[in-house]
Amino acid sequence: MAVKLAVGPSSTSLGVSLAQKLGIETIGVTCRHFPDGETYVRLEEAAKGDELILVQSLCSPQAENLMILLQMASAARGLGVRSIVAVVPYMAYSRQDRRFLPGEALTAELIARNLEACGVSRIFIVEPHSEESLSFFSVPCHPVLPAKDTAEFLRNRGDCVVVAPDEKRLPDAKDLATRLSVDFGWIEKSRDRATGSVTAKIGSVPRTSPVAVLFDDMISSGGTIVKAAELLRSAGFERIEAGCVHGLFAHEAEQKMTEAGVSFIFASDTIESKFTRYSVAQSVAESVKKEFP
Ligand code: R5P
Repeated sequence: MAVKLAVGPSSTSLGVSLAQKLGIETIGVTCRHFPDGETYVRLEEAAKGDELILVQSLCSPQAENLMILLQMASAARGLGVRSIVAVVPYMAYSRQDRRFLPGEALTAELIARNLEACGVSRIFIVEPHSEESLSFFSVPCHPVLPAKDTAEFLRNRGDCVVVAPDEKRLPDAKDLATRLSVDFGWIEKSRDRATGSVTAKIGSVPRTSPVAVLFDDMISSGGTIVKAAELLRSAGFERIEAGCVHGLFAHEAEQKMTEAGVSFIFASDTIESKFTRYSVAQSVAESVKKEFP
């Protein structure tokens, strides 16, 4: 019996780093498209009785990357592996963890049910959107909070004030600021559920540095960061940086943030892109070793 790791196509860099940190071998994964667009997945080498870790981020195209993860799990089950552990660096559809409006789908539950139906028996999710989104799993589900990796990356960037662009993210900003020995603040944000439009005002932001680093769990349209950056500029900050764990950067997010005065954008490798500046592999490896020795 051996523990092996299968790297999905959306997590090639993080998957390999994780295998190296865990000191385990990766198995071959064939992934391609049929002419009509359907995905084909084949796992090589995993043997009956092996324990297999699948690493696949559910970033864009979310539905396709989810389907590939489900196919990887189905393929592993077909090979008779002993257990299937999924490491999901970015868990899509988790923002819909409640029915905010009547008639909406509960997508966080939908994903959990499908992963379990395909044989996933344990799951690690990096920086999950909410506790509610994890509550739909009946198999062991471990959140991986990569604050240590984020702080390590920011440590070399000098003095700053860490700002949560949303009061809900204040504990993260406080934790990050504490690790960096700098001050922290927050913006009060509210979002119209029907239109998606965001309104914001400064909650409390100390002016102990000319540099503000906005840090969120994810940046999607960039709307949250744009509002916060405009407020920080009006408050007199000379340089504004913005980062997140999950960099979705949809539509014209980069351009909008740049126009709002953000001069540096960074994200982790839970979604691999040109904005990826640091890896969460160390935090994931530590969590896997602890929960799945
Ligand atoms: C919201 O709860 C999240 O923490 C993020 O602030 C939000 O998802 C960012 O989205 P956007 O970039 O579209 O404003």
